[in-house]
Amino acid sequence: MAILKVARMGHPVLARRAEEVEDPTAPEIRRLVDDMVETMFDARGRGLAAPQVHVPLRVVVFITPEDPDYPGITAIVNPQIDFLTQEVAEGWEGCLSVPGLRGLVPRRTRLRYTGVSPEGAAIDRTVEGFHAVVVQHEFDHLDGMLYPRRMTDLSTLVFDSEMRWFMEPQDASGESEEETAR
Ligand code: NI
Repeated sequence: MAILKVARMGHPVLARRAEEVEDPTAPEIRRLVDDMVETMFDARGRGLAAPQVHVPLRVVVFITPEDPDYPGITAIVNPQIDFLTQEVAEGWEGCLSVPGLRGLVPRRTRLRYTGVSPEGAAIDRTVEGFHAVVVQHEFDHLDGMLYPRRMTDLSTLVFDSEMRWFMEPQDASGESEEETAR
């Protein structure tokens, strides 16, 4: 396994549509997924999409430890998303390709996603809450979309070190930054 270099906002690989993977079970996809997981943990991220490591393919990894139904690592190839509600909620997001910043992003609250695992197993999940946010953030990477473009109020695009000004007093210590970087 290897730790891969993460592309940062401005690199063209982050702005284009990633290609479908012809054979999700190919050994090179398995290797890519293993390297992406290692890179994600090294960078203390919550998720990583292949374009973020300069590979323009529709592959994503993420972790959702707060979801009791799916508490482990998910690796998904050629994912698709169906929104199950019009309801939107705002939450703070960060991104390993936009280091040092946070933004308040509106996201749908409930969705279904499908795809294939690197082992060839079908994935079909209906999720909500933070899991749904992570999925939307990561799948956006496959379509060349970074979270600042989803924001409706750029006054909430702020540096990590200034996040405290946006927190309720009881949250003043803030959640750790690595918890929300994707
Ligand atoms: Ni990201």
